[in-house]
Amino acid sequence: MATESNLRKARIIELPKVVNSRGNLTHIESMCHVPFTIKRVYYIYDVPGGAVRGAHAHKTDQSLFIAASGSFRVSLSDGIDTQTHFLNRANSGLYVPPMTWRILDDFSTASLCLVLTSNPYTGDDYYRDYSDYLKARGLES
Ligand code: TYD
Repeated sequence: MATESNLRKARIIELPKVVNSRGNLTHIESMCHVPFTIKRVYYIYDVPGGAVRGAHAHKTDQSLFIAASGSFRVSLSDGIDTQTHFLNRANSGLYVPPMTWRILDDFSTASLCLVLTSNPYTGDDYYRDYSDYLKARGLES
């Protein structure tokens, strides 16, 4: 069972920012600015006040969360330790390794949560039940 902490691998990644008086530009390439091959991009937007997203873990998927606009909070847990990150810059991202429980909340008005991931979408990659997740981590029988 995977009892070692995954949270040690979670980290903020600073992304390139090409500053220009006509507007700034940030670019991201697979295996360069993120430690995985980008297979999928999705984004969360029009989030109503007080809404909570996430509340799941992925078995194998790696992700980079970016506050492309506005801000939101990401709370991470591996079942033992926790981390909280407040994302509010378009040129930094939060790398989240597999087997990490994540909760996204405190979205600002008109925020845009951009997510780059390592796998195509499949529902089979999710733990949606926290108790199932803890069992898979060997932390609950
Ligand atoms: P989900 O990952 O459960 O988002 P959250 O945990 O924030 O509510 O995704 C919500 C639904 O969107 C999910 O049931 C299926 C669909 N979906 C896709 O079809 N493809 C995707 O890449 C993602 C992330 C979600």
